[in-house]
Formats: sequence, C-alpha cells, structure tokens
Amino acid sequence: MSHAPVTETLPPVAMRAAGAVPRHVAVVMDGNGRWARQRYMPRFFGHKQGVDTLVRTVNAFAARGVEYLTVFAFSSENWKRPSEEVSGLMGLVLVAVSKYLGKMANDGVRIRIIGDRSAVSEKLRRAWEHAEAITAHNARITLSVAFNYGGRWDVVQACRQAIAQGVAPEQVDEEWLSRHMALAFAPDPDLFIRTGGEMRMSNFLLWQAAYSELFFTECLWPDFGDAEIDAALAAYAQRDRRFGGIRPNEVVPEGT
Ligand code: IPE
Ligand code: IPE
Ligand code: MG
Repeated sequence: MSHAPVTETLPPVAMRAAGAVPRHVAVVMDGNGRWARQRYMPRFFGHKQGVDTLVRTVNAFAARGVEYLTVFAFSSENWKRPSEEVSGLMGLVLVAVSKYLGKMANDGVRIRIIGDRSAVSEKLRRAWEHAEAITAHNARITLSVAFNYGGRWDVVQACRQAIAQGVAPEQVDEEWLSRHMALAFAPDPDLFIRTGGEMRMSNFLLWQAAYSELFFTECLWPDFGDAEIDAALAAYAQRDRRFGGIRPNEVVPEGT
C-alpha cells in the first residue's frame, strides 16, 4: 500500500482554521413540554412558545453568518404522543405559517421542509408548498424544517429512489445517496445542537451529522436565545475538526 502525503488525502475543509462560523447548524428543539410544566401550563403552551423562539433564532443565526439552519420540529416517532398533542402540533404549524410566513419572507429566509409528507394532511402539505414557493428566491439563510422526519427514513427513501430508478448497485455510493437525501441542497451540518438536556440524536440527521460537532445544553427550547447561541458558536470555534485525518499543524512538510 502506498502512503500518499496526508495533505493530499485530507478533504480541503479539514484544513479550515479554528474559529470559523459554522455554515450549517442543525438543532433538536427539545424541552417545550417541560418548559410548560414548570409554569403549570399544558404542553401545547410550550410548543406555541417554541414557535416564537424559532422565528427569533433564525434571525439570530443569520445575523451571525450561518447560511443554513435545520431544525427538528416533529420526528417520525412523535406520532406515539397522545392524539391531542399530535393534532395540536399539526394545527400549530398552520397557525405559525399564517402568522410568520410574511415576516420570514421579508427577512430573506428561504424555507424548505424535509420529511415524509405522505402522512400529513392535504392542508398542511399545501401550506408547506406555499411557504417553499414564496421564499424560494431568498438567500439570506435557508431554514429547513424537519417534519415527520427521521434519519432512518431518509436513508430508506434514498435507497428506494435508487431501486425505482433501476440504478446499478455499483453506482450507489455515498455520493449518490447524499445527492438523494432530504438535505441534498445543503452542506452537511457543521454544528449539531440539542436543547433540553438529553444527550441523544433521537433519529435526527443520522447520515448527515457523521462529522458534525455536537453541543448539548440544559436550556429548554423556549428559553433558547442569544446567550445560548453565542455559547454554542464559541464552543464550535474551539473545536479541532479532523474528519479522520490529523491536525493541519501536525502535517510534516514533504522532504523533512
Ligand atoms: C420538543 O419538545 C418538541 C417536539 C418534540 C414536538 P418536547 O415536546 O419533546 O418537550 P419535552 O422534551 O417533553 O420537555
Ligand atoms: C426529538 O425530541 C424530536 C424533536 C425535537 C422534534 P423528542 O422529545 O421526541 O425525543 P426523545 O423522545 O426525548 O428521544
Ligand atoms: Mg422531548
């Protein structure tokens, strides 16, 4: 086996200096229910507050130079919740679209929805399509809302596309699958944040987060704001991303 110099085998991004702002941030917006319970309110109150937090957060990340924000709003597994909570969340999405879409469109936000749309109502599907259509030309930040999304679902749906298109097995590689997964239009997330104190991924972006930097905070999602964003970005700026390689300053120049 030949040993190529490390500099040739590392992807260019591995060389990026520490201190950079992440291009793509993914967030598991968790803790709405506990936030409401702390106030002796029904869980729905927390979800409602969570929508307002999301709208603020998109602008805060955009102001700091983040280009893509992908948020987990409803997982493939969240159907297991009591039916009143599920239908409350579906209704809340419709209200949120009518309340905030105009503002987001004016703020330069491009909205994308990722997830399995087949299980949601026609009304919701049309609201998503409308939100995507009227923000399609915005370029300040891309907000991808993961709704009825699961990382496992994403891998399966990409494989199904390969089979349906009759793609030869040897053509199905990591690059092909990446191009057919839900976030094909975005670079992989650089920073993966979870609020609410749990330290797990709960089936979010399993494929795309392979080399994301992880940041967990006890802060409940409705309380997430500038202080937590700055803490997450500061932690990210200290990380040393190697992608399986070695640190750039450890690369010995050829011929020494
Ligand atoms: C996250 O908050 C929002 C959704 C999953 C829709 P939770 O509803 O999971 O809140 P906790 O984790 O019970 O506090
Ligand atoms: C993850 O939170 C899903 C979303 C934030 C939409 P959950 O509250 O559903 O995750 P678990 O059940 O604690 O793993
Ligand atoms: Mg939760």
